[in-house]
Amino acid sequence: MSTNRVYNFSAGPSMLPLPVLEQAAREMVNYNDSGMSVMEMSHRSKEFEQIIQTAEQDLRELMSIPHSYKVLFLQGGGYLQFSMIPINLFHNSRKADFIITGSWAKNATKEAAKLGQVNILATSEPDTFTYIPAVDKNKFSEDADYFYITYNNTIYGTRYTDIPDTGDVPLVADLSSMILSEELDISKFGLVFAGAQKNIGPAGVTIVIIREDLIGLAPEGTPSMLDYKVHANANSLFNTPPCYSIYMAGLTFKWVKEQGGVAAMQKKNEEKAALLYNAIEDSRLFRCPVADKDRSLMNVVFVTGDEAKDKKFIAEAKARGLVNLGGHRSVGGMRASIYNAMPREGVEALIAFMKEFERNNR
Ligand SMILES: Cc1ncc(COP(=O)(O)O)c(C=O)c1O
Repeated sequence: MSTNRVYNFSAGPSMLPLPVLEQAAREMVNYNDSGMSVMEMSHRSKEFEQIIQTAEQDLRELMSIPHSYKVLFLQGGGYLQFSMIPINLFHNSRKADFIITGSWAKNATKEAAKLGQVNILATSEPDTFTYIPAVDKNKFSEDADYFYITYNNTIYGTRYTDIPDTGDVPLVADLSSMILSEELDISKFGLVFAGAQKNIGPAGVTIVIIREDLIGLAPEGTPSMLDYKVHANANSLFNTPPCYSIYMAGLTFKWVKEQGGVAAMQKKNEEKAALLYNAIEDSRLFRCPVADKDRSLMNVVFVTGDEAKDKKFIAEAKARGLVNLGGHRSVGGMRASIYNAMPREGVEALIAFMKEFERNNR
């Protein structure tokens, strides 16, 4: 079953753990003696209830999610959260503080600005988002309804290592491209969210982890589907959820547990990223534009400085089964997304090819 697989460095949807895909394949037409596929199963059935409850339990365990937080399985991708967050959290001053570290933070800002006042504390845009900007605590709005960051910047290859202390203002973080890749103290956040399609499973489900006191703040008249309270009260079964994506997410959570949990995952991710960044540093052809201290563990961005060479590298790598190495269409160059499911051997194969390409293209 595992023949002809490539090393897929896509930023998302991205590579999933092979054992997860194989288990899904085994269970495809008859899940657990139910005589049907999870795709054909009522979301109100006992079997599916068990699937969603186990997925939630496993995620809670993996991320040490405190009891005072709800876990929601929603739809609409990360992008819908850019709107749901202001719809639900703008309840007092209708102000929010933002740090702009890339396109996703900008998009979140744009949506929030339709509903309230957005205060941009810092941006690294003039330097093409190659670092996480420092923020001056004196500039924080004490009365903000929330404070927003993108934890890992998928396009530019940066990540937070030191999160801002926002005091009583709820910190909201987009974890889309780093969830389950390193340990996080959820109690420092009011709300975090992540689309599934990078570290969790197929697109279609979005995880929202929200502190209970932030539920129920949406104004009257908020459409039901956009209100966290409606989904929390219904345990994510208000309407038909993305059943199959939730099932796949559950399989991935079990796989992460088998790997030793998030701490073990983090160790492997740090090792993989170090191998690749060191290879780039040692190279005379490739270079990483991102500031050392802010380099992402998940999305490694690099360039040769010559667009034609970048294109040649991406094409030749593809022919070797190292696929989707092109940078985001807005920045070009190369990007290797090395999420949890990318084995160390994939990174080693990439490095070996980089060395060969460098020898042939001096
Ligand atoms: C950090 C981050 N946030 C949000 C999004 C948007 O997510 P979606 O396509 O699920 O709406 C992406 C997509 O790649 C992302 O990388």
